[in-house]
Amino acid sequence: MSPTLPPLLVVDDEKNMRLSLEAIMNGEGYQYRAADSAEQALKMMTEQEFFMVITDARLGGMSGYEFLEIARQKFPRLPILMITAYATPKLAVEAIKSGAIDYLAKPFAPEELLHAVSRCAERHQLIQENASLKARAGEAYRLEQLIGQSPKILELRQLIQTVAPTNATVLILGESGTGKELIAGALHTLSKRASANYVRINCAAIPELLLESELFGHEKGAFTGALRQKHGRVEEADGGTIFLDEIGDMSRPLQAKLLRFLEDGTFTRVGGNQELHVNVRLIAATNRDIVAAIQMNQFREDLFHRLNVVQFRPPTLRERGSDILLLADHFLKYFRASMNRNIKGISKGAQQELLAHCWPGNVRELRNVIERAVILETTEEIQCANLPDFHLETRLRKNEPGEVLPVSGSLNEIISNYEHDLITNILEKNHFSLNRTAEQLQISRHALRYRMQRLNISSGLEEDANFSTKESNQ
Ligand SMILES: Nc1ncnc2c1ncn2[C@@H]1O[C@H](COP(=O)(O)OP(=O)(O)OP(=O)(O)O)[C@@H](O)[C@H]1O
Ligand SMILES: [Mg+2]
Repeated sequence: MSPTLPPLLVVDDEKNMRLSLEAIMNGEGYQYRAADSAEQALKMMTEQEFFMVITDARLGGMSGYEFLEIARQKFPRLPILMITAYATPKLAVEAIKSGAIDYLAKPFAPEELLHAVSRCAERHQLIQENASLKARAGEAYRLEQLIGQSPKILELRQLIQTVAPTNATVLILGESGTGKELIAGALHTLSKRASANYVRINCAAIPELLLESELFGHEKGAFTGALRQKHGRVEEADGGTIFLDEIGDMSRPLQAKLLRFLEDGTFTRVGGNQELHVNVRLIAATNRDIVAAIQMNQFREDLFHRLNVVQFRPPTLRERGSDILLLADHFLKYFRASMNRNIKGISKGAQQELLAHCWPGNVRELRNVIERAVILETTEEIQCANLPDFHLETRLRKNEPGEVLPVSGSLNEIISNYEHDLITNILEKNHFSLNRTAEQLQISRHALRYRMQRLNISSGLEEDANFSTKESNQ
């Protein structure tokens, strides 16, 4: 087993199961950690990196399915394998829909489990290798990878081209999944530093105490476990670019050291006293509200100003209109090729659902949705049935106290969106009966059909000959 493979995490409330899995995993040389509840597992996942998670479907407290949903949102790239007591196709689909990468029914042979685990281990190694190849090749991130034709994306591409060749420090602020990492990579690739190293550090993924030594290195004996001298990643990035991702999570003491480093490129290794110097361009990103962090004294204001020489704010997916379909198509092509599936396109109904969803997880969420749909789809087109239940999610979010509706676009667009959601909602409640819906809204059936056509709302039933699903012409 490669020494760089992090441990796997087992979540099961039965002690005997944990012990037998531990024996199997240790026998194969995997590092093993266990949690007896989903709650404990989620906590461990924020503190340490795992290459995969194996969870029982039935747990005391939060169920395995609920755990899957949360874990998929927080750690979208972490493969999760679900173990259940009975094998039924319905449960398998449930598990996969909730985001499990695979599914195993009890009783299972150890080899079956080990086979699934070794695939995840392999996948982890591949992703690691790929990331470091990308980082070294300097060619991997190109501007064309930023898919989209909406005005905000065109503007963003233009700004990247303008800023990339300079040495300016860049701060990228944006919601999760909006492409901050892609922007950082493109800035390096298009810069004069492209042939030197691009080093990425995720400040949130490295325990606070280790982050300083990761960044600036340490001398032998600097702390327990520092058996030999270690060069810092800033040295690896000399002549190139360093990307500090999730900088909002960096501790205040380290923020002070980073500020000093940014002034003139000097630093000292942990436990050392020699002043070293490198020439590095810094790009930082965070999805946290940095102004709120400053107000709460969690982020240094002087560091913010030092980083904020050029600011990028990638747009959210809901601000990008029909880019949603361009991106969906892009991911469909990618996944059907990698999974060797013959799916030709996305059905009209599914397109409407994609356009109507508000995408809190942005492009990453869309990518996951398409990946899952490609796995589940059995026809030649992606159908609504294989998309998540967006309406339920949206309604849950709208019921959150204090939630402010995202308002963007003209008044007409806002009203149309509201009307669209309202009519869809009432239609669903009335099991798509046009008569009852029209009655409830106190309009004629004809007026309802006209509005549905204008707002691109499907009747939810089999294709209706009189009901055209032409593009909306609002
Ligand atoms: N415009 C885009 N075109 C194509 N793919 C995109 C675009 N924006 C984002 N992606 C893809 O979406 C996923 C998420 O992007 P990325 O990792 O850059 O997000 P992020 O802003 O860094 O999110 P986080 O704050 O959660 O780290 C990646 O798979 C990325 O390739
Ligand atoms: Mg990121």
